[in-house]
Amino acid sequence: MKTYQVNDEGFYGNFGGAYIPEILYQCVEQLKDNYRKVLDSDDFRQEFHSLLRDYVGRPSPLYLAKRLSERYGCRIYLKREDLNHTGAHKINNAIGQVLLARRMGKKRIIAETGAGQHGVATATVCALMGMECVVYMGKTDVERQRVNVERMKMLGARVEAVTSGNMTLKDATNEAIRDWCCHPSDTYYVIGSTVGPHPYPDMVARLQSVISEEIKKQLMEHEGRDYPDYLMACIGGGSNAAGTIYHYLDDERVKIVLAEAGGKGVETGLSAATIQLGKLGIIHGSKTLVMQDEDGQILEPYSISAGLDYPGIGPMHANLASSHRATVLAVNDDEALRAAFELTRLEGIIPALESAHALGALGKIRFRPDDLVVLTVSGRGDKDIDTYLKYLDEYTTR
Ligand SMILES: Cc1ncc(COP(=O)(O)O)c(C=O)c1O
Repeated sequence: MKTYQVNDEGFYGNFGGAYIPEILYQCVEQLKDNYRKVLDSDDFRQEFHSLLRDYVGRPSPLYLAKRLSERYGCRIYLKREDLNHTGAHKINNAIGQVLLARRMGKKRIIAETGAGQHGVATATVCALMGMECVVYMGKTDVERQRVNVERMKMLGARVEAVTSGNMTLKDATNEAIRDWCCHPSDTYYVIGSTVGPHPYPDMVARLQSVISEEIKKQLMEHEGRDYPDYLMACIGGGSNAAGTIYHYLDDERVKIVLAEAGGKGVETGLSAATIQLGKLGIIHGSKTLVMQDEDGQILEPYSISAGLDYPGIGPMHANLASSHRATVLAVNDDEALRAAFELTRLEGIIPALESAHALGALGKIRFRPDDLVVLTVSGRGDKDIDTYLKYLDEYTTR
């Protein structure tokens, strides 16, 4: 049977692997040797799952959105990752990786962040476990996700504003890798998405797979069947999508629809639609689709959403797209904004700008009335209120 999981060499089809500088070789090898052993151990599983339950508030609800369903002519369930402690799915991964770091004897934690949700999640877990935490964040994102910067500081993390490139997620990741190269022995790098060298994409997907594990159980309770017709999620690096689809990857009854950030439009030069625009290349230690020019120079991406503003994509998702297991749609800024206001006014849920891209893809699919759709709301929109308010009059009529 065809499988979409990682192979023993760390590849998903043509994508993945670990393309790292010599100085990080030992750290990445150590991680590779340990992550499965630790993640599968009873002791880790018990601590991880009790924190997910008692600290994060899992399982997150699977909510039948009746008015949204009427609008799109099908049955839409929302997987409410926005209701997790700290406001997004990122906390699932942060808890898992910090628990692993502790077991590997690491004392210092570093992370990159775009929208600030992964930074907040990592700072939160470090506060809980009494560990030092440094978060790299592009200066553009520091400004557009100000509330999350303040949360990280309150939690005791040091936030380093990065001023290279266009000062967004790619640049923050570059700086985090540079820090890791300077402190390879005592520092653990908590990557926030299914990107980076193997084993990160697989490890992050496994830690987030609690999402699809819960969807299976919850759908069974609600609908008497454990699979939907469609699974939908947004993709920046790909972690909420990986978690949403993990237990359905090989179930061909389930259609996978992923939404990437079209920005101002895929053809405008102001876009982060990596699957549509990217070519095979290497970014942050992984062979994947990368937005690049003819000389292989990485192109600066653009999206209204800091969490999707990235010129690469997880190798798992590059493989799912190139093997046609997943349909990837580009959703532009204006479509995401419209979808965010629609959800807010129909269901009373303010989604994160990232999640709004998944919602924006609903209008691009022709559903049948009996189609069962599960869409992951990866985070809540509190951090995006300033941006939303700028567009209030344009997208609402009352
Ligand atoms: C709420 C939310 N959703 C989605 C993403 C995109 O990341 P990923 O593709 O790893 O889920 C982010 C990234 O910051 C985010 O904050």
